[in-house]
Amino acid sequence: MDIAVIGAGHVGLVSAACLAAVGHPTRVLDIDETRIEQLRSGRSPFLEPGLDELLVWGLTHEQLSFHTDPSAALSQADLVFLCVDTPNDARGSVDLSAVVSATRTAVRHVKDGAVVVNRSTAPVGTAEYIRSILEEQRGDVVDVAVNPEFLAEGTAVRDFLAPDRIVVGVWHGGTADSLYAVYEPIITRRLPSMAGDDVHQRVAGGTELVPFLVSNPSTAELTKYAANAFLAVKISFINEIASIAEELGGDVTVIAHAVGLDRRIGPHFLRAGIGWGGSCFPKDILALQGMAETRGLAARMLRAANEVNAQQRHWVVQMLQRHLKTLVGRRVGLLGLTFKPNTDDLRNAPALEIAAELSHLNARIQAFDPVVKSLPPPFDQMIEVTEDAVAAARGAEALIVVTEWPEFGQLDLAALRSVMRGSLLVDGRNFVDPESARDAGFDYLGVGRVGTPAFSVKIREGATGSGGE
Ligand code: UGA
Repeated sequence: MDIAVIGAGHVGLVSAACLAAVGHPTRVLDIDETRIEQLRSGRSPFLEPGLDELLVWGLTHEQLSFHTDPSAALSQADLVFLCVDTPNDARGSVDLSAVVSATRTAVRHVKDGAVVVNRSTAPVGTAEYIRSILEEQRGDVVDVAVNPEFLAEGTAVRDFLAPDRIVVGVWHGGTADSLYAVYEPIITRRLPSMAGDDVHQRVAGGTELVPFLVSNPSTAELTKYAANAFLAVKISFINEIASIAEELGGDVTVIAHAVGLDRRIGPHFLRAGIGWGGSCFPKDILALQGMAETRGLAARMLRAANEVNAQQRHWVVQMLQRHLKTLVGRRVGLLGLTFKPNTDDLRNAPALEIAAELSHLNARIQAFDPVVKSLPPPFDQMIEVTEDAVAAARGAEALIVVTEWPEFGQLDLAALRSVMRGSLLVDGRNFVDPESARDAGFDYLGVGRVGTPAFSVKIREGATGSGGE
């Protein structure tokens, strides 16, 4: 199949690089010339493990190319994937202008019989809208489909090549057949050899086909929102249990582990902490809430999930206030700035929200992140970005673990403690071993385990793995 992808952002690039890797000639179109130039040299504009390798492979084997000229990118394509931004306003109303503009570009350049596939997360009814634009100008010679993405940053290549399911929404069975043909190597788990070990490990031993679910477009559109909303609600649920555990004297990490071993619940997305951020959950939960509320539905669960999430950020500040009394002039060190590890994405990063609150209380903030070396305004004025973790701890009254970067597991806690003025370690991700922290001289506070006496709870059973991903 000949593929075109409009939009060289996270979803577009990962999708394009993976589709090229499984054997489809793929062209990527974007209006950002600088980005396209950079991509032609095989460098991704953002951090995504495994992506650069696929880009280089695709370019060298002439399976992947990057364009700013729509005709060069689109005119031969059998399928055109729309992977553009769909930002929200504060009330959840989604801005579809990029989808409309990409559709208008497609309508001018695609051949008869092509399929325009919307992969951008967009409200129910967007595919219908795209179809109306296409029909207006081309009649019924160009078909439309929906194919939501389930790519998490940091594991996006693995999520594309070894997915849990593929969902498509179509008006005609023949369109589903075309999409099946595109995904056939992935459905039958024929992985490209250059895919990383994590991808191969995920499919190892599995012989079952990847479920390929075909529905109408509205169902596919809503499925995407339902998936993200469920994950966000699951995190907020365990965060609510964490607050209760804190008051009553339980350890939420043990509770989550025990609860997650129930196969009806599962271990994933039960890590209590300072809450969800990123470019997807906050936006999609609000959009789904907006869709429900404009139909007179209350969307109580979504509202509650949002409220719990906001409280989780505030928990950090509450802990500091409780233990340091005043924050005026106090130096606070942050470990981690990105919204999660293995990405350089700062969108809706808890670190920035916490820093803004601390800064408002006149605290002085210094932060270390393995990949973020400078910050955009106004955060560049609020946060001093340091060279290493020790510099972020130097002179601080308190140190906060904000992002669970794997390298933070190797930190020399005693060295950090020795350069600090205070002894408070607020572990916003329950990532540091409390016992090691206390041995290093810290007063350790984790989320949902504050009231727990030291060393009272241990997991003793033989099963491995806790908390999930
Ligand atoms: C999310 C979904 O996981 C993807 O399936 C989806 O395709 C994507 O949104 C999207 O809509 O494009 P992403 O935002 O990259 O992916 O990251 P997640 O791994 O889902 O994490 C989201 C947030 O939840 C992070 O801030 C993370 O720290 C937090 N989280 C996650 C927790 O606080 N606890 C957990 O147990 C898991």
